[in-house]
Amino acid sequence: MATRWGICSAGKISHDFLVALETLPAQDHQAVALAARELKRAKDFAQSHNIPKAYGSYEELAKDPNIDIIYVGVLHTLHRDAVLMFLQNKKNVLCEKPLAMNSTEVGELTSAARKNNVFLMEAVWSRFFPVYEKIRTLLSQKAIGDVKVVRAEFGSNQYDVPRSVQKELGGGALLDIGCYCIQFALMVFNGERPESVTAKGFLYETGVDETVTIILQYPGKRQAILTCTIMVAMPNQAAICGSKGMIQVPSYMWCPTSIIFNGKETKFSLPPSTKSMNFTNSTGLSYEAEHVRQCLLKGLKESPIMSLKDSELLANIMEEVRKQLGVKYSQDTA
Ligand SMILES: NC(=O)c1ccc[n+]([C@@H]2O[C@H](COP(=O)([O-])OP(=O)(O)OC[C@H]3O[C@@H](n4cnc5c(N)ncnc54)[C@H](OP(=O)(O)O)[C@@H]3O)[C@@H](O)[C@H]2O)c1
Repeated sequence: MATRWGICSAGKISHDFLVALETLPAQDHQAVALAARELKRAKDFAQSHNIPKAYGSYEELAKDPNIDIIYVGVLHTLHRDAVLMFLQNKKNVLCEKPLAMNSTEVGELTSAARKNNVFLMEAVWSRFFPVYEKIRTLLSQKAIGDVKVVRAEFGSNQYDVPRSVQKELGGGALLDIGCYCIQFALMVFNGERPESVTAKGFLYETGVDETVTIILQYPGKRQAILTCTIMVAMPNQAAICGSKGMIQVPSYMWCPTSIIFNGKETKFSLPPSTKSMNFTNSTGLSYEAEHVRQCLLKGLKESPIMSLKDSELLANIMEEVRKQLGVKYSQDTA
């Protein structure tokens, strides 16, 4: 039986997600309904992706009984309300990163998922790329010995993207792209909470973080040094340095197609598509879609690779970083 996907929003990432779904076998994945704030846009978007049902409100999608899981691709600021509504309507949810605006909101969502006994995963698609799978295998084999230093960076000029710079749209480098660097370190250190989080950075004129460098420090002389910026492009690489060797992830560290292990490079090819997409390597979204299908087939309520605990820790660290930088959103009460 195919996994029946409902899609929440007719935006840029929803388009890419749908193109990625189309690269997977139709007997495994089907987009069956789409909701947007306006019915006309929902209908046009659904038609362009051969989706049979279109709704002019997210509520109608929440009430549709013929859906196995909803993919949420609205702006970060809208994640909390949309996801909560879906969970309360007993829908499984895959929600774009960041799961919500702050730790409190993330806690509300993880609690609601547990309470309603439904599946919830933050769409940290990076973790399902073959390169990330290879990293996890190498680390579990202790192939580079004891990991001491992790580096990751994500920088691109995004001043022309309203949701990246406007505070009321949840703008800022950290929530948009810094989350990829932090999740990388958290994966390498196996979900361990750092003993300290130190951040330095600059704010943009709108009051959102423009450039941030974070040091996560762990017991046993271990560190992660992470930089994100919406100001300039960076090499966008990552490295994991251990007592017996090194793993390097060439650009783009959040959606990589190659890995260098002790100087030897292995390349992977992405699922092909002839359709145009909004973001880099987006057919790789199919890896997380297939992972979610496998979780649902097993009756899991969270992913073993991107767990609810991982999302909670990621949110805690981002909140601490924002506190140190002085970035506060209307959603932050404390
Ligand atoms: N995994 C990835 O690679 C990746 C890449 C890019 C973005 N993302 C994440 O995906 C989410 C959406 O990003 P995007 O680039 O797709 O955004 P987008 O196209 O600008 O907007 C997505 C949707 O949000 C709603 N929306 C936009 N502006 C709004 C406003 N002013 N008021 C109310 N609703 C508004 C719209 O929903 P309707 O269609 O219902 O009107 C829109 O289609 C973000 O959380 C982002 O972090 C992930």
